[in-house]
Amino acid sequence: MAESTQPTLTSLAARISELAGKLDGYIEEQKIPKVSFDADSPTKYPNLSPEMFMVRQQLLDSLNDLEILAQGPSESVFNYVHSAVPNAAALNTLNSFNFWSAVPVNGSASYEEVAAKVSLPRDVVYRLLQHAVTMRLFAETRAGAGPARIQHTSRSAALAQSTGLQALVSSILDDSGAPLMVLNEALRRYSAGKPGLSQRMDETSFALLHAGGQFGQFRNSWELLENDGAGDRQGWRQRNFVEFMRYLKELFHLEDVVLNSYQWPAEGKVTVVDLGGSAGHDAMVLARKFPEIDITVQDLKQVQPAFDAALPQDLADRVRFREHSFFDQQPVQADIYLLKMILHDWPDEECTTILRNLIPVLKPGAKVVLIEYIGGAGEEEEEKSADGPELPRSLKQYGTATDLRLMAMFNGKERPISKWKSIFEAADQRFKVVKTEAVSSGFFGIVEAVWQE
Ligand SMILES: C[S@@+](CC[C@H](N)C(=O)[O-])C[C@H]1O[C@@H](n2cnc3c(N)ncnc32)[C@H](O)[C@@H]1O
Repeated sequence: MAESTQPTLTSLAARISELAGKLDGYIEEQKIPKVSFDADSPTKYPNLSPEMFMVRQQLLDSLNDLEILAQGPSESVFNYVHSAVPNAAALNTLNSFNFWSAVPVNGSASYEEVAAKVSLPRDVVYRLLQHAVTMRLFAETRAGAGPARIQHTSRSAALAQSTGLQALVSSILDDSGAPLMVLNEALRRYSAGKPGLSQRMDETSFALLHAGGQFGQFRNSWELLENDGAGDRQGWRQRNFVEFMRYLKELFHLEDVVLNSYQWPAEGKVTVVDLGGSAGHDAMVLARKFPEIDITVQDLKQVQPAFDAALPQDLADRVRFREHSFFDQQPVQADIYLLKMILHDWPDEECTTILRNLIPVLKPGAKVVLIEYIGGAGEEEEEKSADGPELPRSLKQYGTATDLRLMAMFNGKERPISKWKSIFEAADQRFKVVKTEAVSSGFFGIVEAVWQE
């Protein structure tokens, strides 16, 4: 490749300066409070404009390139493998023992005080925190010649102040981190030499990790989420997951995705079932906006307490929770069935089973609406055109990382819109797909089918 097309340290630094200048200018202009490394920093930026969001992702790409180039190929690989897993393990452990609340947000604590709060040996606490400090999670402070103390940085303070962020770390790192680390072994055992990824739920990385019973005998992660823990602690992972889902919506400002997913009738009574609707965070957005909508949220048992706690009194006559597994026949007849980020968790066969379980109650004209993350244009690999717009790599990684997680946990997949259409067709020819659309700058795909007898 010609030398001139390759970035240099200096050209990358210039690009970074240009993009950082744009972001800074926007922050000034919009009077957005500035984030910093201090514990009292705002915990996040507000919703950036779509253009500024892209500028930020380009900035992240250039920063990543500069980091690699500054280290050189071999050392960049060494530095990555050396610290990637310890970084993840440190964050997961700090989160699991709630180090966040062991240090006052606007004060400091000694190592002994932290150790007493988290019930771990002082030496373990010291070593974990020494690593955390290198990740800008907590900082060490020393008053004069006194012993070192620990205080928050903005990152650890954000965790201390948000149960949603804690739940996100727990769900992503604790529930799926270990299965992802045995992805290679699961692929070697179950998919190597075959034309495609195993489609069996007992041949996932998750199943491999749990097969020995060391971590409990759970067939899939939903069983783990529902049942892990004894006594009052049973279901703690599911409660975390519910909070994680709610927080994702808040973090990425996703209210519009569900509002724009369907031509919801502004007037007239319409009944909706939100399958796998978690604690009703989408149902409540819909019910608030459309005063005649009646919604039944269906999900697994351990989700219900979070739903009950979140349901505002004035919506209680129109929004309800019903424990139901979508692997059983659907008990509720409705006008619209919503499945948001449900089917990506399952191989094709389970997806068609979930759709077929609706059939006994479907009346002609009933709608089934899928909302799935498609990350970009939602094209098949072979449909991608060489001169189409390239998404920043940092943005693509949102999708590719989720996709690998789905592979490890469920032998599942982020699929393009066309694939969702064929899953309807495989489930039953009477599902007529009437709409496929990318919304939210192409990140989510909507697929709408009508039941035709
Ligand atoms: C990725 S989350 C999506 C939640 C929600 N629809 C959203 O978009 O935020 C998947 C949901 O499916 C639920 N789920 C998993 N297995 C289920 C089953 N067999 N029956 C009903 N719900 C299930 C989980 O509890 C979880 O709430």
